[in-house]
Amino acid sequence: MSARQYTDQLQKLDTPFYFYDMQLLADTLAKAVAEAGKYGYKVHYALKANFDPRIVAAIRKAGLGVDCVSGNEVRLAIESGCLASEIVFAGVAKSDKEIRYALGQDIFSFNCESLQELEVINALAAETGRTARIALRINPDVDPRTHKHISTGQADSKFGISYTEINEAIRSLNRLPNIRIVGIHFHIGSQITDMEVFGNFCVKVNKIQQWFVEQGIELKHLNLGGGLGVGYNDPDGKPIPDFAGYFGIVNRTLETKPGQTVHFELGRSLVAQSGELVTRVLYTKQNAAGRQIALVDAGMTDLIRPALYQAHHKIESLTGQGPLQPYMVAGPVCESSDVFAKEALLPEVKRGDLLTIRTAGAYGSAMASRYNLRDLPRSVYSDEL
Ligand code: LLP
Repeated sequence: MSARQYTDQLQKLDTPFYFYDMQLLADTLAKAVAEAGKYGYKVHYALKANFDPRIVAAIRKAGLGVDCVSGNEVRLAIESGCLASEIVFAGVAKSDKEIRYALGQDIFSFNCESLQELEVINALAAETGRTARIALRINPDVDPRTHKHISTGQADSKFGISYTEINEAIRSLNRLPNIRIVGIHFHIGSQITDMEVFGNFCVKVNKIQQWFVEQGIELKHLNLGGGLGVGYNDPDGKPIPDFAGYFGIVNRTLETKPGQTVHFELGRSLVAQSGELVTRVLYTKQNAAGRQIALVDAGMTDLIRPALYQAHHKIESLTGQGPLQPYMVAGPVCESSDVFAKEALLPEVKRGDLLTIRTAGAYGSAMASRYNLRDLPRSVYSDEL
């Protein structure tokens, strides 16, 4: 159920806040687990998408593993009751302190992003006589056909070990006794909706895996990262992403060896649709260009995606009625990029109206900041109303 079903209750609350549809979240997680389960795939939730405590509790309840990108994320996952044996730690530049902490927790595996990181993890593991399980994060040079700021797997990127360095990485493993390679890891980008991209990616993974086989290295795990996109334009159309199509194309294209497990690190597709940013209209006015403007109490500090990536989030009025007309919907922050939409189609907007910015459950509250010394957005959950 979207925020619309709860308008009466929401109208009484202080704004802005994130509204979470806990039933849709549970249904989405159940569907992802069921579709992945058909092939024995293991899904790790990319905690960076949303670390709200109720969301993390739902993730744990659904039996997902966790993908962390900082020591604090590893700590949060553990303190929330997630199993260390199901935590993968990615992160392009892990500090010594973060590595030591994760080693102490005996996490499932470190996704290593450079030759130097292999040496560092080996040395830090040796300090306490441990052997760290690692996966090499390989940059496969695949075009994800998504926004350039969220593309991570192309040749000219800061992520991963370049495929030209694989042999050197393999050679170095022989002289690093405190790390043990258990797999290879990839992540090509985010908000990918073209299933063919995942097919092409799997073909690349097959080739890279062959390379390891030829070197006599057995890979127990293949980790394909995340990236499955969601429908921002039509949040009510198909609120649950096409997990069947996604895992299906991987199953048809990826060549796995007997006993090998396949892992995923999904963030957006698990939580985006369940969240909305609810905001109140403070002022309306028209500018000299004749544009109608609705100034709202949420800003880029609450949801930075439109300012940062020109991302589109559908905006709806929860309280207004009548024919739709275009409005610029803008926030209170002293930045001209603090605009949620230049031309949102809304019924006549008045001071005090409630608007909802849809599909904001992923990379929304998690990326909030206190710029302008604003408050961080609160959370409201459907099952607590
Ligand atoms: N694994 C790794 C190594 C990642 O870097 C990411 C996302 C994921 C998994 C999860 O990807 P997902 O399933 O959510 O696409 N803030 C941006 C998205 C940044 C994604 C960063 N990495 C946005 O708001 O669009």
